Amino acid sequence: MSPMDAVPRPAPPRINPLQRIWLREIGMERLWLRTPPVAPPAMAPVTARVVAPEAASAVPPAPPVRSPVAPPVSAAEPAAVPTPVSKPAPAAAATPAAEPASGRASAIPASILNRSGPPPRPAPKVEIKDEAPPPIPVAEAVKDADLEQLAAQVVACAACGLCQGRRHAVVGHGAQPTRWLVVGEAPGEQEDRQGQPFVGRSGQLLDAMLAAVGMSRERDVFITNVIKCRPPGNRNPKPEEIAACSPYLMRQIALLKPERILVLGRFAAQTLLGTDATIGSLRGRVHQLKTDEGAQIPVVVSYHPAYLLRSPSEKARAWQDLKLAARDL
Ligand code: URA
Repeated sequence: MSPMDAVPRPAPPRINPLQRIWLREIGMERLWLRTPPVAPPAMAPVTARVVAPEAASAVPPAPPVRSPVAPPVSAAEPAAVPTPVSKPAPAAAATPAAEPASGRASAIPASILNRSGPPPRPAPKVEIKDEAPPPIPVAEAVKDADLEQLAAQVVACAACGLCQGRRHAVVGHGAQPTRWLVVGEAPGEQEDRQGQPFVGRSGQLLDAMLAAVGMSRERDVFITNVIKCRPPGNRNPKPEEIAACSPYLMRQIALLKPERILVLGRFAAQTLLGTDATIGSLRGRVHQLKTDEGAQIPVVVSYHPAYLLRSPSEKARAWQDLKLAARDL
């Protein structure tokens, strides 16, 4: 038991109904009416001091001064009362210095206004959690980014769990202005190591395919993926990873304004075209991607080079797709 507990507590200060309304209005009714503990006898009585409560702990106590008279506050201006609940409550056992005898609303107790009255006492402990601000959703963050800013955002991205296992985020790479935008699925092991798209065996096949229709990644083509970080073990990306990452691709399309888009593989095609149709039904024709800016970009779907490495007999179909993409659409 603390010595404070042993001391009988005085009755709460009397206030009239109008004052009670004011106290409630400014959120201090409970604090004010709570019976305050009696100051320990050893404490010297303190006369009213004008010390801003927040400064009270930072500056040494000022010598006592006479209470200034609280200026009248109109009942129509409650917002002018500057005392948030978390500020120090009125001091123990103090009767409001400017308590109006008549009970009129023209004089709010000066101590409530913190202009005079009893000295501040420590505010009740308010637990402030040291939480990081909520992350800005990717779509909002990329909205006005240029390509350089976008690349920095991708590199720093932590919008899904894939960031935890990546060596490098793979933003994309290639020619600007961009004739073709080639969109794959996600970085593999080599891409994750080097931070560049399609640099493994799939990438070599892709370069050969592009060269067959006179395209090069240095001169004409920008290559990127739907997902910018490698999924562990090259597993399929999860829906929440796609949702978190696709605003980057959409912003790349808006900024690069490619003449056309070649989408490689079922996963990228379904994501970009917003469908769950099979790749067999999506390839062989030209789709149109409507951008937020109102443009329409022709989209051609083909097999993923990794699939072609496993199924070389499908290369003939992939060749048809490339010729379709190279046609004057
Ligand atoms: N496969 C892809 O889909 N993208 C790459 O960047 C590499 C392999």
